[in-house]
Amino acid sequence: MFKITFLIGLFIIVSSAPSEEWWRDTFIYQVYPRSFKDSNGDGIGDINGITSKLEHLADLNVSAFWISPFFKSPMSDFGYDISNFTDIDPIFGTLDDFSKLITKAKSLNLKVILDFVPNHSSDQHPWFQKSIKRIVPYDNYYVWRNATYVNSTRRPPNNWLSVTRGSAWTWNEVRQQYYLHQFSFFQPDLNFRSSALNKEMKNALSFWTKRGVDGFRIDAIIHAFEDDRFLDEPVKPNTGLPANHPDTLDHIYTRNQNETYQLLRSWRNHLDAMNGTKKIILTESYTTLDELNHSMRYYEYGADIAFNFMFVTSFNNSSAPTDFKKGIEKWLALMPKGNYSSNWVVDNHDNNRVSARFGKIRADQLTMVAAVLPGVGVVYYGDEIGMEDTWLSYNETVDPIGCNAGPENYHITSRDPARTPFQWDSSTSAGFSTNKTTWLRVNSNYHTLNLAAQKTTPYSHYSIFKKLVKLKMMPVIKMGTVEIISIIDMVFVIVRRVPGTHPIVLLINFTDRNVSFDAANHLNIPTNMSVYATSSQNSYTDGMSINTSSLVLIPAVSVILM
Ligand code: NOJ
Repeated sequence: MFKITFLIGLFIIVSSAPSEEWWRDTFIYQVYPRSFKDSNGDGIGDINGITSKLEHLADLNVSAFWISPFFKSPMSDFGYDISNFTDIDPIFGTLDDFSKLITKAKSLNLKVILDFVPNHSSDQHPWFQKSIKRIVPYDNYYVWRNATYVNSTRRPPNNWLSVTRGSAWTWNEVRQQYYLHQFSFFQPDLNFRSSALNKEMKNALSFWTKRGVDGFRIDAIIHAFEDDRFLDEPVKPNTGLPANHPDTLDHIYTRNQNETYQLLRSWRNHLDAMNGTKKIILTESYTTLDELNHSMRYYEYGADIAFNFMFVTSFNNSSAPTDFKKGIEKWLALMPKGNYSSNWVVDNHDNNRVSARFGKIRADQLTMVAAVLPGVGVVYYGDEIGMEDTWLSYNETVDPIGCNAGPENYHITSRDPARTPFQWDSSTSAGFSTNKTTWLRVNSNYHTLNLAAQKTTPYSHYSIFKKLVKLKMMPVIKMGTVEIISIIDMVFVIVRRVPGTHPIVLLINFTDRNVSFDAANHLNIPTNMSVYATSSQNSYTDGMSINTSSLVLIPAVSVILM
């Protein structure tokens, strides 16, 4: 037992502005369509599958769900390589199926957000095929440059590197030019300097908006424009990384360019000019904690939610309470003034699941933090039941980034472990499909780790999640002050208060020891509080009355008091 008799830790107070938009202080849920529910037994999830399970999302009480791409695609990047921006891939269903999904979602008061992937198309898109042949206006739909020659050897136009490693340029024999791709060679970058292309992409936004969607998550927006001087990017000193790794370059010419922000503004204006309620825009804008100004700029140019990935990319199981405190405070302090909403992404389809990043015992912690903080919590399918990464062999790996890394390194880069089918129950393929074979193998833990089992188990991830969604809607979360406290870098605390009412207090023990301290005194909270939710019923039970002047936190526990 570690007894804390003194307190080190500053705190800040930030007021969050109340507002009416539907997404304020709610949870938004990400559906990865290949893995949510298979309705036709082919082992791949589809739109009718999603529709059949919307009651689950309504039961969770999330405000909205965003769906990774289901558009026509050769599926080389499982839908992030689109060959028709206004049609649905037959693997996922039809436009009619989509209309049924919208109708049912509306009847359940769930908002539907689509994934808009404007940075690139598939190389199989007819636009690209025509661009190769220089057919007007498609000739200008992509970013083409001549080769440079060094000692008569053909070289790419500059040193730019793709996110997936290696040159961002691929030579095309027919056109006799290089084309740019910020991702894989089969995902050529679209050229927003072409007004015809610009119009096509706005049409895609209109197309889906007219079909009833409530907004868009904008994929890879930071890459939309590149500086048109095509200069080499500076090489960062001493990264220790292989020369083909994108992090060896300082991306001053290829990311977060001024024109990209203008483009976002033009989409904002375009959507605002359409009939109906305001459409939500969420931007996928990864930044480091040192460069949060980029994220804030996306807010200023039209994003309602500029995804905050700090829980996913900046923190892990070795992060300390002060790391969280500094990161969260920085985000809140930098948020542009005005009616903006902060947000906290817990998980997504590109990263290991939260239980793999923070440990199974901490599976609910980040959702608890996201629930208590002001703003939107963004969760990924399976978070509500604490789904775990699935170990897959190299032979079972299908993610191109995993496959490219080879048998030695695939486990570092593959995104497949976090994409395996949702575990609905203990029947065949976890109730995801009637097919015993699914596109990615179901995690073998599904016999015990599944939604049906958790619905009847008190203190399951599912029951905690439901309480957190309810908590998010409480006035103190919407309007209360925020105090973030690190207690000698062992215990992380968030206190939310509205004067004259009882505060809400989240406490997380970051150590593997019991920690005791006088929370009433140190945190200026009532001596008598009750447990609202806990990650472990071994020390607390819901509703239990707690004397906070002699609080004991067992290892790794998180508890919310009210
Ligand atoms: C970001 C998406 O989240 C990721 O899954 C995809 O591979 C890249 N963009 C390319 O579209």
